[in-house]
Amino acid sequence: MFVYTVSFKNVATFILILYNFQMRRLTSNANRILLLLNVIWTLCLFFSWILFPYTETNYRSNRHNKFKNGKDTSLATVRRLLRQKYPNDQGLFSTYFDSELPVIYGVTPTYTRWTQKADLTRLCQTFLHVPNFFWIIIEDAENKTTLVANLLKNCGLPYAHLNAKTDQRVKLRDSDPNWAKPRGVSQRNEGLKWLRKNADSKEPSVLYFIDDDNTYSLKLFEEMRFTSTVKVWPVGIVGGLKFEGPVCKNGRVVSWYTAWKPDRPFPIDMAAFAVNMKLFLSKSDAMFSNDVPRGYQESHFLTKLVTKDEVEAGANDCSEILVWHTRTEKPNTKQEDKLIKAGKSSNPDMEV
Ligand code: UGA
Ligand code: MN
Repeated sequence: MFVYTVSFKNVATFILILYNFQMRRLTSNANRILLLLNVIWTLCLFFSWILFPYTETNYRSNRHNKFKNGKDTSLATVRRLLRQKYPNDQGLFSTYFDSELPVIYGVTPTYTRWTQKADLTRLCQTFLHVPNFFWIIIEDAENKTTLVANLLKNCGLPYAHLNAKTDQRVKLRDSDPNWAKPRGVSQRNEGLKWLRKNADSKEPSVLYFIDDDNTYSLKLFEEMRFTSTVKVWPVGIVGGLKFEGPVCKNGRVVSWYTAWKPDRPFPIDMAAFAVNMKLFLSKSDAMFSNDVPRGYQESHFLTKLVTKDEVEAGANDCSEILVWHTRTEKPNTKQEDKLIKAGKSSNPDMEV
């Protein structure tokens, strides 16, 4: 349809050019001025897609041609246009893909609950600002849900959508306190399986485990992008402390600031480290397990990859908090439960 609009405009332009050609022989001053205006108008019309790229028709037809040539993705186009429109706002729309930068693979377990879409929307909108970010989402479910499928489709990031149901033996029940069982284990392992199959060890990239309810600073991703072994940093509001994690000096970890189970080989949270992909791909036994004591998931995984002396210091020699172990409050469902009991439940088709 937009292609048709463009051709119609071109035909109109062509007729105007012919008209100008006829008019050029008339010599009165008024006619010359008319002719000049006409020529300017014709040129404006002809080059309108360059002069006015943000009118809806031109924008859409420019984009249509990009798609036709199969050279661009919608997100890249939108970002390029936004950057042209707001040249002084460089920080606002980060480069979508820069072939000279390593890719960051974020691995996120997730499960169905009232706050899931809100949590995942927040993450999506953070990662859109991170260049070269690839999101691997693994649902704790028998089948992939349409909620997560649509969220990923509309988010605009490159992604892999997977699922792996937690074994009933270790599944957290609604009545359990949330720390009773390990969470995200089978899902992270499924993500790792995908990476072993799909990631290219010749292409520099990093692996980072992202829980779906934490809060991530954009700065953190630039801190981890160049990681040669395992890079660590402190995490805010975790382990019963204001923050927990490594204490560093001149790029090396000198001690670990922790209170809960300080004997853990790596006394840090899942959000406290990133791993060089080549290193990860070279260790086929690096994965998570349902059979390790509480709080030992991170250590179980990391001890397969590095010794404590080999880790690098991130976040400005571990002096900054760039990720927070926030947790989304479980909502009060009292009124909804009452309505359901009374047979007057809310619209089940409303996706929340
Ligand atoms: C803490 C750590 O930060 C997690 O990395 C660790 O997995 C967890 O404890 C643990 O001990 O297992 P916490 O906030 O307590 O995190 O856990 P959640 O955020 O509830 O769960 C961690 C991840 O697993 C989330 O991405 C969540 O969506 C996912 N999850 C949780 C499931 O896939 N299935 C579940 O039944 C519960
Ligand atoms: Mn959490």
